[in-house]
Amino acid sequence: MSLTCTDIRALYGGFVAVDGVSLSVTEGHILGVAGPNGAGKTTLFDVLSGFHSADGGRVELNGTDITRLPVHRRVRLGLARTFQSPLVPTELTIGETLGAARLAWSPKLDRAVEQPTRELTRFTTPDHVRCGGLDTLDRRKLLLTCVLMRKPSVLLLDEPCSGLMQDEIDEVDEIIRQMVAETAIAVVVVEHRLELLHAVAETVLVMDAGEVIAEGPPAVVFDDPVVRAAYFEAPQAA
Ligand SMILES: Nc1ncnc2c1ncn2[C@@H]1O[C@H](COP(=O)(O)OP(=O)(O)O)[C@@H](O)[C@H]1O
Ligand SMILES: [Mg+2]
Repeated sequence: MSLTCTDIRALYGGFVAVDGVSLSVTEGHILGVAGPNGAGKTTLFDVLSGFHSADGGRVELNGTDITRLPVHRRVRLGLARTFQSPLVPTELTIGETLGAARLAWSPKLDRAVEQPTRELTRFTTPDHVRCGGLDTLDRRKLLLTCVLMRKPSVLLLDEPCSGLMQDEIDEVDEIIRQMVAETAIAVVVVEHRLELLHAVAETVLVMDAGEVIAEGPPAVVFDDPVVRAAYFEAPQAA
């Protein structure tokens, strides 16, 4: 089980948002992707998951070339992602939302998958509660439960800690680590705050202006003068 991409390029018109990025993650491992706002992290996820077609390079999932496949084909092959903004169907209840996620899969998932997945995501809010009443952490847990019920082999998490308090961030880190330990899933986690990847990622890749500027164990990467310059000296996009 692995996700590999090679020399990915992604354009918005004439603007190069991702410029020659390669990465690889295998089962049971967590790769962190850091970089200042506007570095191209989300665009890279869009290319990996099929929301933005690659303008160059190749994406492979478990050895299959998925570069030109639509989103739903990638999902069927075991790829899952979450988004920076935890958008939930505010008028539906949690039970209805989890039900819709199960029934959208083919063959339909049995209701029995809900409880063990909720235990993995530590999502304890009762089924009758409306999604619109959930706080940011519970919205993220609900959406994670929806995708994990499908037992993906590779999971892309786009800023799973944004908008959370420190104790909530610690909980999300624990959930990610436990999920990887128990299910052997491969995880790529985007986080613009470099220091937060210390707790969760074994390897970190740092992007700036569409390019990879450093890669390696967090402790080494964080001390890299090029990385520090990108974070603390370069003008940053809003
Ligand atoms: N839909 C879009 N159209 C044009 N430019 C975009 C679009 N989405 C993102 N960008 C630009 O591409 C660059 C990378 O954005 P993004 O991938 O969202 O970065 P990150 O996730 O690292 O903050 C930024 O300069 C951003 O303004
Ligand atoms: Mg982003």
